[in-house]
Amino acid sequence: MPATTPTVQPIDHAQRLRALPPYLFAEIDRLKRARLDAGADLIDLGVGDPDRPTPAFVVEALRDAVGDPGTHRYAPGRGIPAFRAAAAEFLHRRFGVTADPDRHILALAGSKDGISHLPLALVNPGDAVLVPDPGYPVYASGAVFAGADPVPMPLRPGAGWRPDCDGIDADDARRARLLWINYPNNPTGATADTGFFERTLAFAARNGVVTCADLAYSEVYFDDPPPSLWQAPGADLDRTPAIEFHSLSKTFNMTGWRVAFAVGRPDLIDALAAVKDCHDSGVFAAVQRAGAEALRRFDHPDVTATREVYRARRDALVSGLRAIGCEADAPSAGFFVWARCPRGEDSMAFCARCLDEAGVVLIPGSGFSAHTGEWFRAALTVEADRIRQAVERLARVV
Ligand SMILES: Cc1ncc(COP(=O)(O)O)c(C=O)c1O
Repeated sequence: MPATTPTVQPIDHAQRLRALPPYLFAEIDRLKRARLDAGADLIDLGVGDPDRPTPAFVVEALRDAVGDPGTHRYAPGRGIPAFRAAAAEFLHRRFGVTADPDRHILALAGSKDGISHLPLALVNPGDAVLVPDPGYPVYASGAVFAGADPVPMPLRPGAGWRPDCDGIDADDARRARLLWINYPNNPTGATADTGFFERTLAFAARNGVVTCADLAYSEVYFDDPPPSLWQAPGADLDRTPAIEFHSLSKTFNMTGWRVAFAVGRPDLIDALAAVKDCHDSGVFAAVQRAGAEALRRFDHPDVTATREVYRARRDALVSGLRAIGCEADAPSAGFFVWARCPRGEDSMAFCARCLDEAGVVLIPGSGFSAHTGEWFRAALTVEADRIRQAVERLARVV
């Protein structure tokens, strides 16, 4: 009997998957793969993933913890007490914020875990979620998964890349349940002060909206330490409807470890914990023990030295870009440089040319937002020498 090839029945994907915004970096990914396959020596300024190792004292703490069978079982959903206590101690020493580890803090498997799941806890189909535009895409995709409408809040250079809450359409403000802010900002590198946080909280209070602050880059800074939302005048962890996300990923070069925490009003923490109880079974306790050690020693020289490394890279990239005609602000925090394409060239065309002709990977601003089509993002996650080499190559392209 001749073998017959079984027919493959196509399965429709869920509507929510089809409702996700299009992935706009696909063209750059395709070009990058093609150049790598051709053996090109690419300088990748695209990826926002630290190239430096996790501090040795954190790795050592994990080694110790993993040898203890007590860490091998399911971890408590909210996080082990030692991790939450270390998070509270960090908030106190770094920001002067007093949080109760049992009521205000929740351990997360990376801040993306909390950011993506929060709408499932607080948002209903048809609600609006206010998201920065340009912004980290998970604010919008989390809203879509909860059946809500992500409503962009344009960030403009003239306003320091901060949203204009007063400009939000009255109907959108009425439908909104969550408002996302992210300072230090990805992709623009902008920072915000407690006055901005205060005004945002006031808008949120007038409209019954929960303020959600993403501080993933709070410890990568070059001037004044960026503030917490909870330092805003009047902000009160037991009263103000807000939640803030902290991550160990960028501060301690721990992106692969997946450990972070949220600090917020107890009812919001409880709601997020309830959603997560249905999705995961806690962050590996050994990782939490090492994470606690990291947070307790956030001012260790091995941690603070990283800032100086990024500062040197930032200075090399910003001065290099300016020398070849790209307008670029030196960010005071975060590890992204946000710059304007020379002569107003479209960012997708410019980034494609940089990749093709110079072997330098940059991220086009048009991938983040329709209104940042003249901008591009470069990450400071390669050595300063490679950055200088990248600039030399770009000089031949512009
Ligand atoms: C603005 C912003 N927030 C959150 C995250 C998520 O980081 P993690 O899940 O590693 O904590 C990222 C990652 O790139 C980011 O850029």
